This record gives sequence, structure tokens and C-alpha cells, in this order.
Amino acid sequence: MSARNLGKEEREAATGSGLRSQQWFGAEGKTGFMHRSWLRSEGLPDDSFRGRPVIGIANSWSELTSCNIHLRALAEHVKRGIWQAGGVPFEFPTTSAGEPLVRPTAMLLRNLIAMDLEETLRANPLDGVVLLAGCDKTTPAYLMGAASVDLPTLLLTGGPMLNGKYRGSDIGSGTSVWRFTEAYRAGQIGADEVAEAEGCMARSQGHCMTMGTASTLACISEYMGMQLPGTAALPANDSRRATAAHLAGRRIVEMVEEDLRPSAILTREAFENGVRANAALGGSTNAVIHLLALARRVGVELTLEDFDTLVRDVPVLADLMPSGRFLMEDFEYAGGTAGFAETLGDLLHRDTLTVTGRTLGENYTGAEVYDREVIRALDNPVKPAGSGIAVLRGNLAPRGAVIKQSAASPALMSHRGRALVWDALTDYLRDADDPELDVSADDILIVRNVGPRGYPGMPEVGNLPLPRKLLEAGVEDMVRISDARMSGTSYGTVVLHVVPEAAAGGPLALVRSGDIVALDVPSRSLTLEVDDAELDARRAAWAPRQVPGSERGWTRLYVEHVTQADEGADLDFLQGGSGAAVGPQAF
Ligand code: FES
Repeated sequence: MSARNLGKEEREAATGSGLRSQQWFGAEGKTGFMHRSWLRSEGLPDDSFRGRPVIGIANSWSELTSCNIHLRALAEHVKRGIWQAGGVPFEFPTTSAGEPLVRPTAMLLRNLIAMDLEETLRANPLDGVVLLAGCDKTTPAYLMGAASVDLPTLLLTGGPMLNGKYRGSDIGSGTSVWRFTEAYRAGQIGADEVAEAEGCMARSQGHCMTMGTASTLACISEYMGMQLPGTAALPANDSRRATAAHLAGRRIVEMVEEDLRPSAILTREAFENGVRANAALGGSTNAVIHLLALARRVGVELTLEDFDTLVRDVPVLADLMPSGRFLMEDFEYAGGTAGFAETLGDLLHRDTLTVTGRTLGENYTGAEVYDREVIRALDNPVKPAGSGIAVLRGNLAPRGAVIKQSAASPALMSHRGRALVWDALTDYLRDADDPELDVSADDILIVRNVGPRGYPGMPEVGNLPLPRKLLEAGVEDMVRISDARMSGTSYGTVVLHVVPEAAAGGPLALVRSGDIVALDVPSRSLTLEVDDAELDARRAAWAPRQVPGSERGWTRLYVEHVTQADEGADLDFLQGGSGAAVGPQAF
């Protein structure tokens, strides 16, 4: 063992290093003894505590979060980089949330994960942190929690799965699930074919390989400056991702030395880059919720309207499912996030600061695109400028609602129809298979009480499955409206995030089956054609419902404090930050 005990002078020198961790490890007497001694049980030599940057590796690994299953292995590469750069790594777990499993919805746990991380970072002797995330909610939760503490922070997402392969065709996570299950419900394929497809989709470690929420958050967080350039789209199993992890470990030590914190990176311009990159990628509507929540953590003014007005000159340039044809593996081989950033050119602010200590523009200088089918040129877009997210308003959504135009049917963008309304998702799912259901393709399906407070957790159910009788008749899309979210891998003419939600007494709670609703995306309007006097009468008779599961525990806290979708569905008392100040010592 080459470890040596430090003398008093050396400890004082170390305490004066300015490192936050030295407020634990640099202390003398009983306090310092305890802080150092117990960690010696991990086999660390004494000089580990002598002024070296102490780096946390926050790990959302869990066997219940299959998309993050490889993050334990990736953490080892991060540690190598930290040791190599002279830091000391400590990996720690947090609450995790696997999108396909968590009930009632993984979104219910996003703020809990963020709070878990925030408290862990604040409470421990850490000078910086590498965030290992991937599945839909883990990435925004980690960014939110870390932003509220504002230690030097570097995000490393786990990377997408390899392309799904089924009978000679590529199939995409989520997107193909909807297609296979709808085809099965319509009687077009059998159970054997569905079972075979199940085994062919998730062929490797990693998060969903469509431009769903996970890929969206990974890519836009890179363009917001929080990930190393050119890494977000590297497949999970690509050895270059392990290299990226190693480099992330090295770089976070430098970031501590440079005191480079999220507050210097997550500026208004960085958020604008995220919003615009999301549009160009054909990214998820969930990015709206997560960026609104993150912006409020760091005090940046970002509004729902920004997701519409900032993107009107941004075309969809990534030909990726669910809006396009290809998958993330193709995107990486076509040039990845570096080639895509170069394609976007001045559609992104190029002078924003990033985790490299350089600007966004400097990070991607010289990047190339190798396949213009996947990453389109500006003059040959997948969808023209202004076909990304549109923000709707009207008496049905006074504070707004969103629709992903690139995933919707052009023929339904201006549509007026009879509303069919369900108060509960389970009721709709029961009726959707009823051959006697009175429904036509021109009707507008409305399910309510699926917002942040109402479900609770705002599940991804806005892309309601179509009624079976219409599917069997060949109908492929209908207008659907709800206060829910929808998976980033979904498609259809789906109006989401209606604010205020029904459970908060919004006008959505007042619609009745048979009312006429008018959707007009070009004019950004969503109108319930019922006069004000009638709506006032319905409002006077309305009473809030008991939210399922809200009697105790986290769900109670969540329901009492969750904000509406236009504010990011964060908890009201988690907006802003606690900072990295070290709290009092109890012994
Ligand atoms: Fe985890 Fe899609 S289910 S990223």
C-alpha cells in the first residue's frame, strides 16, 4: 500500500483547496476522522481525501429499468476517466423509473427522482457529478435535480438500442408496438406474429431507438450543452460509448477545476437550442413538459408559446420514426448529433457554452454527414419549416394544448366534429372494442382526467387506440383530445396537454358527448362550440373527483403540489434550486 497519512499542515492545505468535499474530508478531530475513516472501508488510500475532486456518478441503473441496464458497466468507464484525471469517484443509486413497467405512469416518479438526486447531491461530499440516465424520465429528472444543486455536472445518456429487425424489416421501439397491436386488433395479423415481433424489437441494451422521448432528450441535452458532443446517438453497445464514458470521467474533473456549472450552460439561448433542435429532429412532445420544468429549475423564462414561435423556421431534417423512416442506429452512421448540428448551422445559437468549456459551434466544427437520406439537407427536408409542435388555444384550452404536426394527418388539421367523451381511460378502452359503439371517423374522441393531477402523473395515453370497428373498416387516424401526454414514439392527430386539465376544473371537464369541437391547427385554435352561459351552468354543477391513490405517500404530495403541464408538471416547491451550500454538521 502506498497510502500515507497526511500531516496536519497538509490537511490544512487541502482544506483550503476550495473543494466542497474538503468541508468533510479536510476537517480535523472527530469529524474528519469519521468522514475519512468510514470511507477507508472501501479500500481508499488516505491521499484520496487530500484535495482531490470528489465526483459522484449518479446511476439510474435498475433491473426494473431495462433501458438503463448497462449503466453499471458504463459507470466503470466513467470511474477510469475520473481516476486518470486525478479525481475520486463515488457511484450511487437513485430512484429509477422504467417507462414500460411503472404504474400508474413513470411520469409520476420523475419529480421524485429529481428530488432524490437533489437531496443526495446536497447532502454528500461531492464536487461534481456525472449523470447516467437513459430511459424517458430518468434523463429529465436527473437534469432537473442536478440543475437545482448546480454542482459541475456532465450528463451521459446510455445510448439507443440497435435497430429492431423483423422478417427483413427494421422495426422501431414504441412506434412498431402501436402498429403491430393495432394490426392485431384489426385482425390483420395473428398472435404468433405479435409474439415473434416482441422478441425482435428490443435486440440490445439501450433506450428506445426511435426518435421517442429518450432519444429526443439525449440529443437536445447535447445541443443544450450538457453532454459531450457527438455522443448522444452512439448506440448503447458501441464501444465508442464506453470511450465517451471514460472521457466524461476525465472531463468532469476538469469542470470542477474550472468551476463550470449548469447555471453557466443552461441559459435562455441553450433552451432555445433545445426547442429548435427538437423541432428539427421531429422530437417528442414530452420535451415540452421536461424543458418547461427544467427552465423553472434554473430561472430561465421559457413559455409554452416558445415551442411554437421559435420553430416556425425550423424544418424536420431527421428522417426518423415516428415521423419518418429510419432509426437511431442509422442516424449515428449518417453523421450522428455532430453531423446533424453541422446541418442545422445557424438555426442553433453557436456561441452557447457547453460542458467541453468550448462553444457549441466550436464543438462541431468540421463535422460531416454521410447519408442525406437520414439527415436531410436544409433544402430537402422531411417536413417543411413550421411542421413541428403547434400550440393551440381556445375556450377548450385557455392556457394551451399541443399537437405534433409532423406525426398528424394533414387531412385532419382543420376538423370539426362531434365530441365523444369519456371520464376515465378504462371506460374508453372498454368501449373501444364494442362493435355497437356509436362512433364514426369524423367524431372527436375525448378522454379526460388523465392530466398531471387527475390520473395522477399525466400518462402517455393521448394517442388513444382507435375504436375496433373503425380499425376494421380501414380508418387509420382520428382527432383525439386529452389532458394526457403521448409517447414520443407515437403518431396520429392527437391534441395533448390541455391546460387547465379536467381535474383542475378546466373547460375540458365541461365537454359533453354530442358537443361540437373545432380543431384548426393553422390558426392554432381549439374551440368548444358551446355558449358561455351553458358552460357557466355546467361549471357550477361540476365537482372535483377523488384522485385514485392520493390518500397517502408520494402520490398525495404529488397531487397536492403538481403544477399544470404549461409549467412543466413539476412540484411547485421544487421550482428553483437549493444550491450546493454545505449544511450543518450534526456531530
Ligand atoms: Fe425506456 Fe423507451 S421505454 S426509453
